[in-house]
This record gives sequence, structure tokens and C-alpha cells, in this order.
Amino acid sequence: MQNLRTIILAAGKGTRMKSDTPKVLHEVCGKSIIEYVLDVARAVGSLKIYVVVGHGSALVKDRLGREAVTIRQPRLLGTADAIRCAQGFLKGYRGDALVLCGDTPLLNKSVVEELIRRHRKSKAVCTFLTAVVPNPQGYGRVIRDENGAVAGIREDKDAAGDQRDITEINVGVYCFQSRALFKALQGVRLNKKKKEFYLTDIISLFYEGGFVIETLRTEDPSEGLGVNTKEDLAVAERILRKRILKRFMEEGVTIQDPSTTYIDAGVRIGKDTCIRPFTFIEQDVRIGSRCKIGPFARLRPGVRIRNDVEIGNFTEVSRTQIGNRTLMKHFSFLGDATVGAGVNIGAGTITANFDGKQKNATTIGNGAFIGSDSILIAPVKIGNKAVVGAGSVVTKGKVVPDGGLAVGVPARIQSRRNQR
Ligand code: UD1
Ligand code: MG
Repeated sequence: MQNLRTIILAAGKGTRMKSDTPKVLHEVCGKSIIEYVLDVARAVGSLKIYVVVGHGSALVKDRLGREAVTIRQPRLLGTADAIRCAQGFLKGYRGDALVLCGDTPLLNKSVVEELIRRHRKSKAVCTFLTAVVPNPQGYGRVIRDENGAVAGIREDKDAAGDQRDITEINVGVYCFQSRALFKALQGVRLNKKKKEFYLTDIISLFYEGGFVIETLRTEDPSEGLGVNTKEDLAVAERILRKRILKRFMEEGVTIQDPSTTYIDAGVRIGKDTCIRPFTFIEQDVRIGSRCKIGPFARLRPGVRIRNDVEIGNFTEVSRTQIGNRTLMKHFSFLGDATVGAGVNIGAGTITANFDGKQKNATTIGNGAFIGSDSILIAPVKIGNKAVVGAGSVVTKGKVVPDGGLAVGVPARIQSRRNQR
């Protein structure tokens, strides 16, 4: 594979988000915006990823950890200045440099792959992504000469007359021959109106120098949607949620009512599992095959569900593992629990997992039967095939042995049951 390094521009203030959180750390479908961009950078084969950060840089740096090299842009002097800040890190590098914006969670790996392919095939100094949009306001317009070749990009603020009507816009995804990029960067002058150095000015410099510039037009303009406001955030969430649900349906998951089903980007679900309406499945949840989830279920991070499990209405499960064929069909809460196979969790069962200071674990063995309206005050352990009588309160630290019985408030524990 050829050399590829990626620079992600993420230093912008994100003023219009009106938030104390840096823009790129806002979440869309359970994942921060910048992580989507990182995923694309990794997926297309970047050997190194640099993220240019400014506003809230410590927080962004913390979140990225070792996944990328963070580079601080001391003053926000524009996209060309941001690239200049990265220049020192790419000293001696001669391969291609992919430039992405940190605020585009909807960008697809496939379109970037196609862009890189075209770039390499055409031997252009720069290939960038364009889209035709009904309302180009706010975007850089793609200027073409009489032969249809790209002659430059004119920013919205500077676009005058006919240029304002151009509907082909710069999405903000570029692949450069890195040496040409850094050389041309020296020629970029301050834009007097905006007091910024525009990366996009580089395109007309290339044109004037007689270099080949290529473009790839995406059919889906939402690809490049940059999140600038909370409204954009909601739009991105809606589009991504649709994409996620479509993917699950293609993989054989039944989604009864996509319009009321919320599944985050990192979730995995096996085929023939049915997700019923008004269900929320968050972050890293894993669900096996042939399960029935919902309606009105909320599965929170850290949940692992095996096959043929039923999680019914008005249920919440958090940081919990559930074995094959276990049933939890009506209004219950399980938190920090490890539940075996073939368990029945009766209606209204609650694990009281938080004692005011810390979270405690509940273990329920294979084939156990938890009667309706039981409260399990963690830490507790319910053995294999043990029974908790309806309405019992099993108090902190108790162990119900295998095949044992716990009944009452507080529950008395009998080690053997007479029948089962
Ligand atoms: C930019 C493009 C425009 C394109 C649009 C697509 C330029 C000059 N214009 O405009 O042609 O249509 O994106 O969305 O590039 N950033 C920094 N440091 C800075 C300034 C910006 O890192 O000093 C980052 C921002 O965090 C953002 C990206 O660069 O991720 C783009 O900057 P932004 O200010 O959003 O540029 P636009 O005006 O949207
Ligand atoms: Mg922008």
C-alpha cells in the first residue's frame, strides 16, 4: 500500500454550538464527531493521523489519547495556517496527505477511498471532493475554466456576481501530494476580509502553476455535512440513525418501527433479532441472534446479551451480561449483573446496585427463577436453579446456594428446596 498520512482540521471554536464542550467532542449516535472522522482516516489506510486542535485542545487531546498526534494551532488563522502547523511533523515525508475536517461525522469511507484512488491514478497534485447542492450558501464554490477544469475555489464571503449562483461546492476533503501542498502553502496570502489564510487559495495557485487538479463529485451531499450548530447536530443524528438502522436491516435484524428506534453506531446485533418500537440501544451493546427487544426497552453501555433472549417492555439494563434464553419480559432493572442462561427475571425485579457510594455486582446462576417484584440488594449471589419468591428482598451480601430458596422481606434463605 502506498504511503498515506492524514491531517484532520479541528481547531475551530465552534462558536455557534453555544457550548462549553469543544464542537468535535459532541456526540452523534453515541460517538463523538471526531471519532467518526478518525475511523474514516484509519479505514482508508492512514499510517499516521494528525489532529490540529485549538479551542478546548486539552479536552480533545485527552479524548484522542494515543489514537492520533495532536498538534496545537496557537491562533486560529485559517485552514491554511492549520496545515502549516502540521508541516513540521511531516518533514521529509513524500507520500500523499489526506486532509479532512474534524466536524463531518457523515463522511463515508468509500467516497474517501474513491477520492484517493482517483488522485493516484490521475497523478494530480490535489484531488478534492465536491457536491452539487441546492443552497450553496456558506460553502466555497468550485470555479471552473472554459474547458471545465478546476481553476480555483471561491469562498462564500468573496463570491461575487455569477459565482454566487455556482452550486458545485467544496466539501472540505482533499488528497494532496504532500510536497506540492507544503510548497504551495508558502504562496497563500492573508484574506483581508476574514483575516484568515485559506487552504482553498492553494487551488488557484496550482492552476496558475499548470498542475493537474482533480475532483470527485459525491452523489450524497450530506457526506460533507459539517456540524456547526445544535440544529446541524440533530440533522446529523437523524441521517446517521437512518443509516445505522438500514445496515442492521440489511444484516437480517428486524426493526419493527425505524422511526422510534434508536441504535448507536457501535452496537452489534445478530440476525433474526427483533427490535420493537421505542427502544434505545446505546454505545457498545452486543445482542445475539433471535432475541426480542422492547417495546420501550433501554439497553445501556456494557450490556452483552446472548441468543434467544427476551427483554420486554419498560426495562432498563446496564453493564450486564445475559445468557442464552433468559427472559426479562416486564418492567425491570438490571445493573452490574451477570445473569446465566435460561433464567426467568420476574416482572418488576430490581437489582439495587448502587449503595450510595459504589456500584455492586449481582450474580444470577443458570436456570434461576426470580419471582415478581423482587429486590436484589447488591452484592448478592443467586445460585444455579435457585428460586427467589415473589416480593422478596434479598439483602446485601447474601448468597442463595444452587437450588436454594430465598423468600420474604428480608429474605430467609433455605439451602434446599423440597421441589423443583
Ligand atoms: C471550509 C472551506 C470551504 C468549504 C467548507 C466545507 C476554507 C477556507 N474553506 O469553509 O471551501 O466549502 O469548509 O465545510 O477552508 N479550522 C482549523 N483552524 C482554523 C480554521 C479552521 O483547524 O484556523 C478547522 C475547523 O475546525 C474545521 C475546518 O478547519 O474543522 C474548516 O473550517 P471552517 O471554519 O469550518 O471553514 P468553512 O468556513 O466551513
Ligand atoms: Mg465549516
